[in-house]
Amino acid sequence: MTFDAFGRLLDGRFETLPARRAAEGHAMKILVVGSGGREHALGWKLAHSPLCKALYFAPGNAGTTAVGTNIAVKADDVGALVAFASREAIDLVVIGPEKPLVDGLADKLRAVGIPTVGPSAAAAQLEGSKAFAKSIMVAAGVPTAKAATFTELAAALAYIDGRAEESSVVKADGLAAGKGVFVCATKAEARAALTDILDHNAFGSAGAVVVIEDFLEGEEASFIALCHDEHVLPLASSQDHKRVGDGDTGPNTGGMGAYSPAPVLTKALEAEVVETVMKPVLKAMKARGTPFTGILYAGLMVTANGPMVLEFNCRMGDPETQPLMARLKSDLVEVFHELATGRLTRTELDWDPRVAVNIVIASAGYPDTPKLGFPITGFKAAAATGALVFHAGTALKGGAIVNTGGRCLGVTALGDGFAEAIAHAYAGAEKLHFEGSFYRHDIGHRALGR
Ligand code: AMP
Ligand code: GLY
Repeated sequence: MTFDAFGRLLDGRFETLPARRAAEGHAMKILVVGSGGREHALGWKLAHSPLCKALYFAPGNAGTTAVGTNIAVKADDVGALVAFASREAIDLVVIGPEKPLVDGLADKLRAVGIPTVGPSAAAAQLEGSKAFAKSIMVAAGVPTAKAATFTELAAALAYIDGRAEESSVVKADGLAAGKGVFVCATKAEARAALTDILDHNAFGSAGAVVVIEDFLEGEEASFIALCHDEHVLPLASSQDHKRVGDGDTGPNTGGMGAYSPAPVLTKALEAEVVETVMKPVLKAMKARGTPFTGILYAGLMVTANGPMVLEFNCRMGDPETQPLMARLKSDLVEVFHELATGRLTRTELDWDPRVAVNIVIASAGYPDTPKLGFPITGFKAAAATGALVFHAGTALKGGAIVNTGGRCLGVTALGDGFAEAIAHAYAGAEKLHFEGSFYRHDIGHRALGR
């Protein structure tokens, strides 16, 4: 392992980039909030801009130390983050995860004059409350599954019993780290999920309200856009792989791999999503006095009747961000600064036409109880394949990099077409090892099958 004069880790891919910071006079100090693969990928891309003069991560991971400086402040410590950004005269803050957004970090930063990528707490309710998101979608006429909202178990069970269909989807209303959704094939499964959430408080206050919705059939895709007021700047399409096991089996996870573009979202469907989903939602948010400025992510089901919304997130996806950043050619500092200062007017970004694929390497036991603390080897060999290794749950410990979370690494590679990009990404992933590590072997199977 090699370190530079500032103690930063060099792995051959993530060299520091001072030489390329041509426009030093206009360059900015940037803070990225979070510690996942999403934040490493965003930081890596931001660091490539001549407009970035200093980059901080709060708290970051072992990989982010190669592109910036980690500070020992947790991503949900709103007070400490605002204090740091003020004290260091940070020019731009990019908030990765949902929790600090729902807790009002963007409002507090803007209140002290710091341009911030992320919606207000009020607008972040699109992710913070599934019942709120549903009510906005219904009011705005956005295509989504028919749903009903409950706070009492008896009423929820009666609704299930009265339904014609056996299948349903039961969702805890609040933030549950992707674990609060139950796709139920039978009424018995739905009853069990409802009892867990409403009676056994499986998700605490996040499950005080439940949404029960119709099961939608189709292929999922992620549509992410930078939004200001009623302006929409779409990013390239992408697709996640939520289940832990090959063939989409086993429990849901935060995401086991992703690729961009997602062929299921044709250009025509993307344009349809802008008109039928994004613009009506932004208009509705503005009309109720809580305009949305930040990153709006629509989790879509592309059904026989067109794209329908499963959920909204108020941030970039993880791991979708990793292949998106590998493909983005536009200057991300410029674009994020425009968004954060209310000057976003462009309607498209520049993308590498190649396909990008990301393979997540996870710890044994994920998503339930990951086994942590094992040294990871193979970074040099992985980098030698040309793949980018984005870190997530990793930390430096006694000169070694160890796994500290469920999802640890995201190996990302480009290729001409899916077969090539997939082969490149797996060639990198095969080089990385730690005790119990595993990854899915079929990332990209849907796109390949087309
Ligand atoms: P969500 O967090 O709401 O996106 O739900 C997590 C996952 O559950 C989604 O990625 C889908 O795989 C599945 N899901 C959610 N809602 C539905 C639905 N109405 N029909 C079918 N699957 C769904
Ligand atoms: N990859 C799904 C998410 O970020 O919510």
